[in-house]
Formats: sequence, C-alpha cells, structure tokens
Amino acid sequence: MTPSPLVVANPGQVYRRLLGYARPYVGTFLIGVCGMVLFAATDALLAYLVKIFLGGAFIERDPRIIWIVPLGAVTLFFLRGVGDYVSTYFPALVGRRIIKALRGELFAKYLRLPVSWFDATSTGEALSRLTFNIELVAEATTNAVTVMIRDTLTIVALLAYLFWINWQLAAFALTLAPLISGLIRGINKSFRRYSTRIQNSMADVNRVAKESLDGQRVIRVFNAQQQLEQSFEVANELNRHSNMRLINARAMSNPVVQLVAAIGLAGVLYFAISQVQSRAMRVDDFMSFLTALLLITAPLRRLVNIFVPLQQGIAAGASVFAVLDAPAEDEGGTLRITRARGDIAYRDVSFAYRADKGQVLERIDLEVPAGRTLAIVGRSGSGKSTLVALLPRFYDVDSGSVQLDGRDLREYALDSLRDQVAVVSQDVVLFNDTIRANIAFGQPEASAAQVEAAAEAAFVMDFVRELPQGLDTLVGDRGALLSGGQRQRISIARAILKDAPVLVLDEATSALDTESERHIQAALGRLQSGRTTLVIAHRLSTVEQADEIVVMDEGRIVERGTHAALLAQDGVYAQLHRMQFNA
Ligand SMILES: Nc1ncnc2c1ncn2[C@@H]1O[C@H](COP(=O)(O)OP(=O)(O)O)[C@@H](O)[C@H]1O
Ligand SMILES: [Mg+2]
Repeated sequence: MTPSPLVVANPGQVYRRLLGYARPYVGTFLIGVCGMVLFAATDALLAYLVKIFLGGAFIERDPRIIWIVPLGAVTLFFLRGVGDYVSTYFPALVGRRIIKALRGELFAKYLRLPVSWFDATSTGEALSRLTFNIELVAEATTNAVTVMIRDTLTIVALLAYLFWINWQLAAFALTLAPLISGLIRGINKSFRRYSTRIQNSMADVNRVAKESLDGQRVIRVFNAQQQLEQSFEVANELNRHSNMRLINARAMSNPVVQLVAAIGLAGVLYFAISQVQSRAMRVDDFMSFLTALLLITAPLRRLVNIFVPLQQGIAAGASVFAVLDAPAEDEGGTLRITRARGDIAYRDVSFAYRADKGQVLERIDLEVPAGRTLAIVGRSGSGKSTLVALLPRFYDVDSGSVQLDGRDLREYALDSLRDQVAVVSQDVVLFNDTIRANIAFGQPEASAAQVEAAAEAAFVMDFVRELPQGLDTLVGDRGALLSGGQRQRISIARAILKDAPVLVLDEATSALDTESERHIQAALGRLQSGRTTLVIAHRLSTVEQADEIVVMDEGRIVERGTHAALLAQDGVYAQLHRMQFNA
C-alpha cells in the first residue's frame, strides 16, 4: 500500500522532519558541538605547532623549544581526545533517543493501522522498517550531523589559519571550493537512488526469510528448500548488487574529489614555492601552511563520505514517515456502551475488498435477535468470513449498514464496539507466554479465579491438570508446544473470559478431530448460551440447532430457514446435507 518511492520526493522536508525529533535535545546536542569546536581548534593549533617548531628550532634557535613542542603536542592531542569523545558521545545520546522515539511511534502505528494495510504489506517488510531502516535514520540524524558540523568547523578553522599565514595563497586555494561542492552534489544524487534500492531489497530479504521461518514445516514436507533458496537468492543478490553500486559510487567519489583537491594543491604549491624562493615567505610559514592544507583533506574526505549515510537516512526516514502518515483505523463515533443487548442486523450490505476485484458481499439482509444463534454455511470463498469480519469492523461496508442494538456500528467508539464482540476462529493466535497469560490476554484485570473458571469451562483444565506447571506452563512460539485442540480450547477460554454479548465462531472446530471436537462442542455450547452467536461451520451437524441457517453462495444469501425447513425445501442445503452424510 505504501511502497517506498525509488527516489525520495522531497529530501529536505524529510530531513527537517527527522531533525524535528532532535529538537527536545538541543541542549545535549550543543554539548556535543562544544566538543566539535575543541576538536576543530586543535587541528589549526597543530599546524601552528609546526610553525613554532620550525621557527624555534631552525630560525630562532630557541633552547626552550625542546620542551615546548613535545609538551604542546601531548596537550593538543589530549584536548583533541576530549573533543573527540564529547562530540561522539552526546550526539549519539540524542540519536539513540530519536531512534527509540521513532521506533516506538512506528510500533504504535502498526497496532493501529487498518486490517487492509496488512493485507497489502508483508510482515517482513514491516519488520524491516522497524529494525533496519530506523537504524539508518540514526546514522543520518547524529553521526552525519556530527561529522558535518565537526568537519566543517575544522575546515573553517584551518582556512582561517591559512588566511592568517598568507591570505593570497589561501584565497587562491579557496577558488577550488565551488568545483568540489558541485562534484559532491552530483555524486550525492546517485547515492540516494542506491540507498532506496538497498532498503527495498533488504525488505525483500526479510520478507522471504520471515515466510520461510514461519512456514518451515510446510517447506520440509514439500521438500521446497530449493525453491525458497532460489527466491532468497534473488532477493539476496539484488541486495548485494545494490550495495555494490553504492560502494562503487562511494569508492569513486573519494579519488575524484581528492584528485581535484590535489590539482589545486599543486597550484598552491607552485605559488608557495616561488614565494619561498623569492624570500617573500619564511620556511616555517610555508611548512605550517602546507600542514594546514594537508590537514584539510581528512575532514574533506569525511564530509564527502558522510553523504552516503545521510542519503540512506533520508530514504529510510521517508519510508518510515510513509507508514506514520498512512491513515490509522477509523476510531468510530462517540457512542459508548458497557454491555450491548446483542441485536445484530445487516441491512442491504455490499462489500468489496478492492473495487477492481468484484463484489464479495452483495445486498445482504440479516437479523439476529439478542441471544439467538445464526449459522452460516456455504462453499469456501462464498464470503462467510468476510460477513463476520464486518462485525468488529475489520472492514467497513461499501453500502448498507451493519447494526448492533439498532445503531450503525460506525456510531460506536471502536474500542467500545470491539468490547462487545468475541471471535473464535480456525487459526488460533497464541503468544509465547504461559497458558494463564494467554487466556487472560487483553484482560489483565481478570482475577486468578476468573481465569481458572474460564479454563474449566473451556475444558482447558482437562489437559492442564496433567502438566506439572499447570496454567503456568509456557506454550512456546505461537503455541507450538500444544496440540491444535488444546490451542483451540485456550482460545475458547479467552472468549469465555471476555464474556462479550456477541460471539463469532468462524470454523472454530474445523481443524480438530472428532474426539477433541466433542469436547470443544461442549465448551462452545456453554459459551453460546445467553449470547448472540454467528457460527460458521463446514460440518453441518454442528449447525442443526441454530435458530436460523443461511446458505451463502458468491456473496449472496441463496437460502435461509431452520434445519428442518431447509431439508424440506430440498435445495442447496439439503444437497450439502446429503453429501456429508453419504460420504
Ligand atoms: N483480505 C482479503 N483481501 C482480498 N480478498 C479477500 C480477502 N479475504 C478474502 N478475500 C476474497 O473474498 C472472497 C470471500 O472470502 P471469504 O469471506 O474468506 O470466504 P469464506 O469464508 O466463505 O471461505 C474470496 O473470493 C476471497 O478470495
Ligand atoms: Mg472463511
């Protein structure tokens, strides 16, 4: 839904926004700047020390020079060290705070983006932004800024010193500046392009890796290792290739800039030597000038190099901001209820996931009075799951209205609405925590007794009693240490504890064998009593008791009635029924 653009449209704006995150820490950053000033000053003083050394030792033959120069050198490098430390530590402090803030914001945003956003984005890609891209932002906002300020200051200090020693020569050297900055600007553009490519390819690497790690059992049983190795190879190779393009651009940029600088240096040397020969310049001034000039090349080189992380950071920042700016879920209206009665109505509801993909639900009309059970049957792909996904507003209708207690769902505050709905579906999501914590998920206020009662009612206790650690047993990654039936019972206990007036069962038992299904049917029976229930089941035996059964096909309701009435009607339902019981 939000692919990162290949070239960031407005890098200046992105950068200003990133720096906006640094604003609260200006004070901390200024301490760093003090260190940078100290660092820059020591470079110019170093060139001055060369002048003192040569002038004192060879021209004035001052005996004190034997102490002054070595002590001066140690002092200078001590100060330089302090400057170096302060200018590294404090900006990094700011940078890590920015990372934390940005990462926290992005994570919070992930929790609030609409379901449709996740339909269109791979989790690997979303993870990649949270981990890899954000680290690049740190580089851009701190290291790059540090180098930029520190090295610009160093260059300015050295230039000032050059002017002080011999302004004509310095002015001549300065004419090169526009040429070099023009070069850097050109190189810059290609850096940004490659940076975006690298991040996109890193997202691909992450996506393939995540899918393969998640699906490792399927991969093994299909012997699909080679196929996945190939997909990974494509992403991996693209990543290597993009990185090499960037490295190439970076490797080229240094020699080019240095060569231009060297040509300038040659010109300066020519005039300087001619001045020395005509005795217009002293040798100590000449050597000191040369030292300062050579000292400029190091910060210059760093300044050129800094554009890579800077551009990477901007590309990364743009990709993060694209997510932060994506519209969050609609928060709904202002209506809040503690407990709904549970009257559900669908009035002339139509829905499509994407306008170009055709209708998934067409003109659905349904009423489920409070406390009643509606069963929905039909072929797979007929729209059953979509129909119930509208209840917690995972998606909103395109036309018509879904109502709870006679009010459109969109009138309720979203969290208040979702409090009214419990969902048990085929794929159970467990977190890597204890059984107890998984039952009480999202309901931290539940007491131990309530959790145990829910576990008892959902037949969770049946298998928990045999576990040495009982309810405090860890379930493993996504519940891997439990059987499908055990996981399902935990999700039912979760729904029992939630005690919502509306219950959705979407093929809650289809993954189970008959033995565990019998248990779970009993658990579900307890769960249904006193609630409005929408149950989707592919085993018709489980829906016979429903107050009404609707049969769906291609997004429409094609038959409706009680089990007995539908059998008597001898239509689609009767046919489905015959097929199941003859098989
Ligand atoms: N998240 C989605 N994005 C786009 N299309 C979807 C999505 N989920 C389901 N569909 C499509 O909508 C139709 C109905 O799907 P679904 O409601 O899951 O059917 P059922 O639950 O009856 O098997 C199918 O054609 C399916 O491909
Ligand atoms: Mg379904």
